[in-house]
Amino acid sequence: MKAAVSAGSNGYNAFLGLFKHITYKNSLSIPPVLRNTPRITKPIVSAPMNGWAGPKLVSAVANHGGLPIYAIGYFTNPDAIVKDLLTIPSTIAHDDHSKEEESAVAAAPVQQQQQGRPHQRYMPYAVGFVTFWLDRQGPELLLRILRGEGDPKFSKGAALEEVRPPAAIWLSFGNYRPYLDLIRHHGAPETRVIVQVQTLEEAIEAQKNKVDVIVLQGTESGGHGAQRVVPLFTFLPEAVQALKDNAEASGGQLPIPPLLAAGGISTGKQFLTTTILGASGVVIGTGFMPTVESAGPQHAKERLLKIQDGGVSTVRTRIFDELREFDYPIGFDGRVVRNLVTEREEEDQRKLGLYEQTGEDSFKLLKEDRSGTKADWVRATQEQDFDLLPLWSGTGVGMLTKQGTAAEFMDQLLDPNGRP
Ligand SMILES: Cc1cc2nc3c(=O)[nH]c(=O)nc-3n(C[C@H](O)[C@H](O)[C@H](O)COP(=O)(O)O)c2cc1C
Repeated sequence: MKAAVSAGSNGYNAFLGLFKHITYKNSLSIPPVLRNTPRITKPIVSAPMNGWAGPKLVSAVANHGGLPIYAIGYFTNPDAIVKDLLTIPSTIAHDDHSKEEESAVAAAPVQQQQQGRPHQRYMPYAVGFVTFWLDRQGPELLLRILRGEGDPKFSKGAALEEVRPPAAIWLSFGNYRPYLDLIRHHGAPETRVIVQVQTLEEAIEAQKNKVDVIVLQGTESGGHGAQRVVPLFTFLPEAVQALKDNAEASGGQLPIPPLLAAGGISTGKQFLTTTILGASGVVIGTGFMPTVESAGPQHAKERLLKIQDGGVSTVRTRIFDELREFDYPIGFDGRVVRNLVTEREEEDQRKLGLYEQTGEDSFKLLKEDRSGTKADWVRATQEQDFDLLPLWSGTGVGMLTKQGTAAEFMDQLLDPNGRP
């Protein structure tokens, strides 16, 4: 007999508990070895948004008790990423790697040190890799990050215990399994692995592979995702039920990892509903885009805040990957705010019944438009002209009305009457 899923059965604590060893010192007067307090206290994850989730957003979310994901994106220069990561620690409040703490730890009796402080420490953020891109670039950057090269304390030959690697590694869009093994082998003992999936089959497989956190990404999501993907409020309860059934059938061998809901979530009521449906927390991208700390241009943030009717104003398409010649694996596309390019694509599809384009076709398709040539695309990229460029966004964009800080956005999510 199938077990009933009760409200919030998967519980916030299932997620928060995974990160409770990541602490900060909460008093200067008492040795921090005795005063460590969990840092990640809110079940809110800010998504790894390429071009938007940079150091400032990471610090803002971490400092307010969420788990931010730094977007590694479509990297070409690993050194530039490491350099960017190195800017984060000094902006994180109550940095537990401070000189004061080091001397307090050194002064504390050995026994206290053993009891009060975990051997390995972690940064209170995760880094998010696009898996198929990682396949192309090779695992070198991932290995460097796992070794703690994003910590200013890193030096060649440093032991892992001397530096803080990220709390977790996020993997999305492609085959994550080889990296799961690599992280388990080369990572610190409590480096968590978060995998974003789009189908029930993938969710079940991730449970079997014992990933630490599974993100269920619905079709409402902004940015990339599966072309054929279900709405979150269908996907989430079905996945919760299936994983629960598996856990029971396995006699406890196969626990349900914390499940996070992603896609179209902007308000406190939506957040609450995901709990009722069994999520342990949420992953939000679009909602953080217009915040003060996100890395996107201000004119793009203002554009987002004016959009209404998010399901109609956004559309899933592959055309921008073709234009950018990103060669995204078949089966993926991205949700974006409709603009001249998507209008033109739809018009053409209507006329010709075309659904799949090559990069060349896409440029041809735009020829009669003012975006007509590759040179216009280059110009649009330089000028950040979102009449042509993709402004990735989820359906929840319609409910975003005012600009605030990331912390304000998080607070309204935790308030059932909250409005962004
Ligand atoms: C601007 C933008 C960029 C994104 N870039 C990435 C990315 O680089 N890697 C990734 O795994 N997901 C990316 N995503 C998708 C998120 O992981 C997440 O599924 C999504 O933001 C959740 O839906 P929401 O945007 O409606 O909140 C991106 C989303 C947006 C809006």
